[in-house]
Amino acid sequence: MTPSLDIRALIFDLDGVLTDTAEFHYLAWKRMADEEGIPFTRQDNEALRGVSRRESLARILKGRPIEEPVAQVWMTRKNDYYQAYLEGITPADILPGIPQLLDSAKATGLGLGVASASRNARGVLERLGLTHYFDAIGDGYCVANTKPAPDLFVWVAGRLDVHPDQAVVFEDAEAGIDAALAGGFHAVGVGRSPVGHAHLVFQNTSDITLDRVFDGLSQAAARTSRE
Ligand code: BG6
Ligand code: MG
Repeated sequence: MTPSLDIRALIFDLDGVLTDTAEFHYLAWKRMADEEGIPFTRQDNEALRGVSRRESLARILKGRPIEEPVAQVWMTRKNDYYQAYLEGITPADILPGIPQLLDSAKATGLGLGVASASRNARGVLERLGLTHYFDAIGDGYCVANTKPAPDLFVWVAGRLDVHPDQAVVFEDAEAGIDAALAGGFHAVGVGRSPVGHAHLVFQNTSDITLDRVFDGLSQAAARTSRE
């Protein structure tokens, strides 16, 4: 028998799903790393997707010891550089297909949430003109344990008044899919990062429609129930 899904909400990661800020994070970290003589490449930057600012710095340092006050100064400097890039963001930077997806979800009565590790999430949503869509916004200030812990998604689901198995998480990062699966959410991977362990993957945001999400997740649930 095909299990029927009871989906009541969609929860979106921000960076890499609603807009693509990974390049700005890269350029800001790169400037900071260059100033401190730390090797850091675009490929290194891929490992920073979805993880917190502090964990990003730890991954850039690759085990090199650093005093915590110095780490704080470096993170503040990187964030200043990042925020300067954010000033150029407009609604034209929303990824393709996202407004249509949000409109159709709203029209269907689904709850909508954002769950981003970023402490800049609210500012980015404002600049994109997307804030009004969301019933709950979770950011890097809301929980102590960030992705891959499920806490942020659980926090947002609570505010949307849904159980994890009634919510679909959209994520572009390995750490984000790990978090969604650990929390018992339906997990949809977006893009080309290592998100193949999600229940369903779309290469591009422009391919995502509600029908495809529901069909794909139903098929994934049917596969799981046969196993
Ligand atoms: C995530 C990004 O959304 O936010 C990470 O994918 C980033 O790359 C993290 O490190 C924290 O962002 P911020 O804006 O708080 O430094
Ligand atoms: Mg992301």
